[in-house]
Amino acid sequence: MEFASEKKQELLSKIARSDRHGEHSLYFDGWKAYDKNPFHPTQNPDGVIQMGLAENQLCFDLIEEWIKNNPTASICTSEGVGKFKDVANFQDYHGLLEFRQAVAKFMGMVRRGKAAFDPDRIVMSGGATGASETLMFCLADPGDAFLVPSPYYPAFNRDIRWRTGVQIIPVECHSSNNFHVTLAQMESAYTKAIEANINVKGVILTNPSNPLGITLSRETLTSLLSFTSRNNLHMVCDEIYSASVFNSPAFTSISEVMQETECNPDLVHIIYSLSKDMGLPGLRVGIIYSYNDQVVNCARKMSSFGLVSSQSQHLLASMLSDEVFIEKFLEQSSRRLAKRHSRFVKGLEQDRIHCLEGNAGLFLWMDLRHLMKESTFDAEMKLWRVILEDVKLNVSPGSSFHCPEPGFFRVCFANMDDHTVEVALKRIREFVSKGNENGDDKKLLQKKHRQNLNLRLSFTSRKCDEGLMSPHQRMSPHSPVPHSPLVRART
Ligand SMILES: Cc1ncc(COP(=O)(O)O)c(C=O)c1O
Repeated sequence: MEFASEKKQELLSKIARSDRHGEHSLYFDGWKAYDKNPFHPTQNPDGVIQMGLAENQLCFDLIEEWIKNNPTASICTSEGVGKFKDVANFQDYHGLLEFRQAVAKFMGMVRRGKAAFDPDRIVMSGGATGASETLMFCLADPGDAFLVPSPYYPAFNRDIRWRTGVQIIPVECHSSNNFHVTLAQMESAYTKAIEANINVKGVILTNPSNPLGITLSRETLTSLLSFTSRNNLHMVCDEIYSASVFNSPAFTSISEVMQETECNPDLVHIIYSLSKDMGLPGLRVGIIYSYNDQVVNCARKMSSFGLVSSQSQHLLASMLSDEVFIEKFLEQSSRRLAKRHSRFVKGLEQDRIHCLEGNAGLFLWMDLRHLMKESTFDAEMKLWRVILEDVKLNVSPGSSFHCPEPGFFRVCFANMDDHTVEVALKRIREFVSKGNENGDDKKLLQKKHRQNLNLRLSFTSRKCDEGLMSPHQRMSPHSPVPHSPLVRART
């Protein structure tokens, strides 16, 4: 018996035993609270509103209309079933040529023709999640590290680190310059890592940023690309929100910057996906686009572990190559995102809550420092618990994004209908007017508020009147409970 229990731990692999997946993050408590008590306008009007899900549900009507108008694009209609056998039999890990061509064309359109993409470099994967991990397997060995500006997307801890053994070194960005990453911060983090004997393999940028909702400037991209080239480091750009840009400045892709910057193209790689820009996270379409032939070859072999189903490839090949539809879709999508974003910003401004001025993504970076008694992560957690448990909004605390400063929260705004938006804003208004959980007096709040105004603020105010289906009747596919833990940390 003793022997059996001594041996027990070794029955499983180190990966299975490690907690590097990140699912124990407090971030997921919000998901659990939502899953236990989801908001519904009539059946559960006091339930938790899901504002922790970076999903774009604003343009489903356009996709559905296209599908109805193009019945041959699907193999499951009487018009399209003639292709069923060929498509269902297809299993080549290169993917359907027409799919790769359509994705390459789409990526070029999103970048307004300023960069062209070669269909032979398009490698598919199970979402950007699978694409990031596969790329790490190609670029780094266990123990090697990547520099990542923080705050950063929480599930990078899973995608970049968990099974690969790669480390993330956060490059801390601060509110004093609106969380923009600088070359000096990057160089300093790199020097410290070298001094600590860490083998740094590269930099990972998310442009536009999740959670900040901002785009990186051409100047920043140029200086960081020069930095990585000088030091023989890889430059990985996650551009999953590249078409979810709704205000100026326009998006600049690393694929444009590398044309004007002295750099080694073998070190440049893009991660992409249709989960956000097309609002299709369930189809699991991820892309690795590398300028390095060896990486393309290796990633393609690895893609056997996470291919996109040929049925999805077939459908998307038709949809993405319909230029007229895609032009309209991209234009409508950014228009609707802009409207929704400005409705939220305006509503929050009325309650004297300010956000980082954002131009992209599906979320706001909300500043609640004035509602905290002290500037600590404990106070942030307390405030977050009140917002979750009393106000019943599942927003995500900045600490879960490795934000180095307490008091910031990410608020997702594109995964709900207009009615839910108004309910959420009303709850925030009531909460703010009642005072906060610590009973801070108004003067203190106002004083703190004035101190915090060094953050560039957002004052847009257009009205929103989009009609949408609400997502409230279903459990979140990303929920940590009670579904498989492996699908949880996606947004
Ligand atoms: C920056 C970033 N990268 C990757 C992902 C994962 O996307 P996918 O659903 O395509 O795996 C997300 C999802 O939220 C994200 O925000």
